[in-house]
Amino acid sequence: MRYLVTGGAGFMGSNFVRYILGKYDDAVILVYDKLTYAGRLENLRDVIGSPRFKFVKADICDEQRLIKVIKEFEPGVVVNFAAETHVDRSINEPAPFLKTNVLGLFNILETARMLEVPLVVHISTDEVYGDLWEKEPVNEEAPFRPSSPYSASKASGDLLCQAYWRTYRLPVIVMRPSNNYGPYQHPEKFIPKIIIRALHDKPIPVYGRGDQVRDWLYVEDFAEALDMVIVGGSKGEIYNVPGFNERKNIEVVETILKLMGKSSALVRHVEDRPGHDRRYAMRGDKILGLGWKPKTSWLEGLKKTIEWYVSNKWWWQPLVDDEYFKLDTPWDKAF
Ligand SMILES: NC(=O)c1ccc[n+]([C@@H]2O[C@H](COP(=O)([O-])OP(=O)(O)OC[C@H]3O[C@@H](n4cnc5c(N)ncnc54)[C@H](O)[C@@H]3O)[C@@H](O)[C@H]2O)c1
Repeated sequence: MRYLVTGGAGFMGSNFVRYILGKYDDAVILVYDKLTYAGRLENLRDVIGSPRFKFVKADICDEQRLIKVIKEFEPGVVVNFAAETHVDRSINEPAPFLKTNVLGLFNILETARMLEVPLVVHISTDEVYGDLWEKEPVNEEAPFRPSSPYSASKASGDLLCQAYWRTYRLPVIVMRPSNNYGPYQHPEKFIPKIIIRALHDKPIPVYGRGDQVRDWLYVEDFAEALDMVIVGGSKGEIYNVPGFNERKNIEVVETILKLMGKSSALVRHVEDRPGHDRRYAMRGDKILGLGWKPKTSWLEGLKKTIEWYVSNKWWWQPLVDDEYFKLDTPWDKAF
C-alpha cells in the first residue's frame, strides 16, 4: 500500500509512520509536511533513509503542489494529520487554525476528488463535541459544541468531509481520537510539559483546580486503530477513538511526579484558560466493533513516555528556553 501522510512530521503522524513501516514490509510512505514549529524531521529520524520513505516539505494550502505530489505518488490512501493543534495558541491567534484546518483540508478533499484517490482518512478530535461535564459519553451522532477556535476549525473540517461523502461520494473516513500521549509530543503540550518541568524541578502550572477531565490514549494504540480503519473501516463513516482512561488533570500531574520521584509541592494552580472544557468523553462502539481496543495501560504508557523524555533530552532541549519555565498566565504568555 502507498500512504501519503500529511502532517506526518508531527507527534501523531510520525508515530503512525513508524508503526506502519514496522508492520508492513510492502508499505511505502510519503510524508507531506510544512514543518511548522510543531513538525520536525527529527521525529522521523529512524525512517529517513529507508527506500520505503519519502518526504516533501510543503503546505496543504498549496493547491498546485498537492495536486502534483498526489499525481506523481499515486497513493492508495491519504491520511491527514496536518493541522494547527494547540488550543492555547488558537485563543491568541485563530487565523492559522482556520487556514490549515479548514482551507487546507478543503484542498485535500478537492484534490482527492479530482484525482480519484481511493481513500482519505481525516484525523479530527473529541474536542468537536465540547464540554461533557456530568454527561454520558457521546457517540458519533452527538451535536458539535466546539469551545475554542481550534475545536471550531476541526468541527468545520469534519462537516466538509461529511459533505464530500454525501455530495460527491468521496471515499472519506473521519476519526475522532481522544487526547494522545507518548514520545515525540511537542513540549508545549500537557504531559511533556509536566515531565520536562519536573526534570528541572520547576513549578508545574495547573489550570484552575485541575479538575478538568481528559481521556488519555497512548499514541501507538491510536496508530493501530487508524491502521484497522484503513483496512476494514467503512467509507463515509466517523469513528470515535476513546482511550477509556478518564483522568483529572491534577491526577495526571500527581501520578507523573510520583513516577519521577518528585514532590507534589511543585504543583502551582494558575488562572484557568477562557472557555476551558471540563470534560471530554466518547463512546467507542464502532471502533471496538472493528476489533480494536487500547493495549497500553495508563501506568505502562506513562512510564514509557517519561523514560523516552528522560533519554531523549537532545530532542526537546532545543525547544525549551527560559520563557518555557516561566509561570505567568500560561494561556496567553507561555508561547
Ligand atoms: N495530539 C492529540 O492529543 C490529538 C488528539 C485528538 C486529535 N488530534 C488531531 O490529530 C492530528 C495530529 O495531531 P498532533 O498532535 O500530531 O499535531 P502536531 O501539532 O504535533 O503536528 C501537526 C503537523 O502538521 C504539520 N502542519 C501544520 N500545518 C500544516 C500545513 N498547512 N501543511 C502541511 N503540514 C502542516 C506540522 O508541521 C506538524 O508536523 C491533528 O489534526 C489534531 O487535530 C490530536
